[in-house]
Amino acid sequence: MKKWKQKAIVQKTISYLPLSSKINYIFQKFVTKGVNLVDNYFYDRLGHAREHIKAFQNYSDKSIPHACLEIGTGWYPIVPVSFFLIGSDKIFSVDISFLTSKERLQITLQKFVECNNLGQLKNYINFLPDRFHTITKLLNDYDKFSLDEILQRLNITYLIEDARKLSLPDNSIDLVNSNNTFEHIYPDNLIPILKDFIRVVKKKGGVMSHFIDMSDHFAHFDKSINIYNFLQFSDIQWKWIDNSIQPQSRIRVYDYKQIYEDLKIPISEESFREGNLNELKSIRLAKKFKKHQLNEIAISHCHFISRMSSVNY
Ligand SMILES: C[S@@+](CC[C@H](N)C(=O)[O-])C[C@H]1O[C@@H](n2cnc3c(N)ncnc32)[C@H](O)[C@@H]1O
Repeated sequence: MKKWKQKAIVQKTISYLPLSSKINYIFQKFVTKGVNLVDNYFYDRLGHAREHIKAFQNYSDKSIPHACLEIGTGWYPIVPVSFFLIGSDKIFSVDISFLTSKERLQITLQKFVECNNLGQLKNYINFLPDRFHTITKLLNDYDKFSLDEILQRLNITYLIEDARKLSLPDNSIDLVNSNNTFEHIYPDNLIPILKDFIRVVKKKGGVMSHFIDMSDHFAHFDKSINIYNFLQFSDIQWKWIDNSIQPQSRIRVYDYKQIYEDLKIPISEESFREGNLNELKSIRLAKKFKKHQLNEIAISHCHFISRMSSVNY
């Protein structure tokens, strides 16, 4: 049996158990070895942070987003720490489960220090020296602090709550962002979440910036399949394969654009990774995908930037 199918079966089984996200972490750590903070991942997400900051500076009248919100931060809060380093004062991370830990936060902070020692950090973000000093000081006395105290010093607040009804006031967030998260949220949840983002983002100077990875995530782990493998299944078949730990909506770029249009969220700037047409052609597409242009289906990653003050809601 192919490796991706074995993983799908294990994740489906875990998804029915209590504490499923903790069990999944252990499974990924010891079996698929997909949870360590490796350089590729760190620099990729640091690159995302750089792009979010650039998007904010291009489409807002301010240079620093004082209040930021990320949905789906995951195990290592690289993007929230980047915002702290550039001077943000209120950094919220909303997720359905609390996936970081004191140890994972320490690993993240150490990686920032290592990156700076290599002379790389300044190539990504224009960090404030006193903010960087706070991080080195925290690391020196790490054991003395609780996780809550460390997060507080980094201006980071975790909101473990339903992102469709955020506990944040209207018009309070300068920059809403996400990284490789939208693809895990089906439209019946994503639409109300986006509506609440519209509510909380500042209508004067507010920006949204979202990176979406539309590739089949099982292909990241099993190199015998390509990133379009999941497009061969009908919705009914996919419902059996997909799991609630790491759901994949299989939404394509044209679906996201339609959702944005329906919600009147402007796309001020968009960028794509074209994907690989030959790989796509090797897949027998399910009916629902066949009605679209191959080059549209092939797009594997996208980044949407929205200047939220350009519309009246
Ligand atoms: C694949 S991880 C991405 C983690 C990280 N942002 C990254 O760049 O690798 C997806 C994250 O989205 C979170 N997530 C999924 N559905 C969500 C929802 N409805 N509301 C909030 N967070 C959600 C998951 O718990 C997880 O932390």
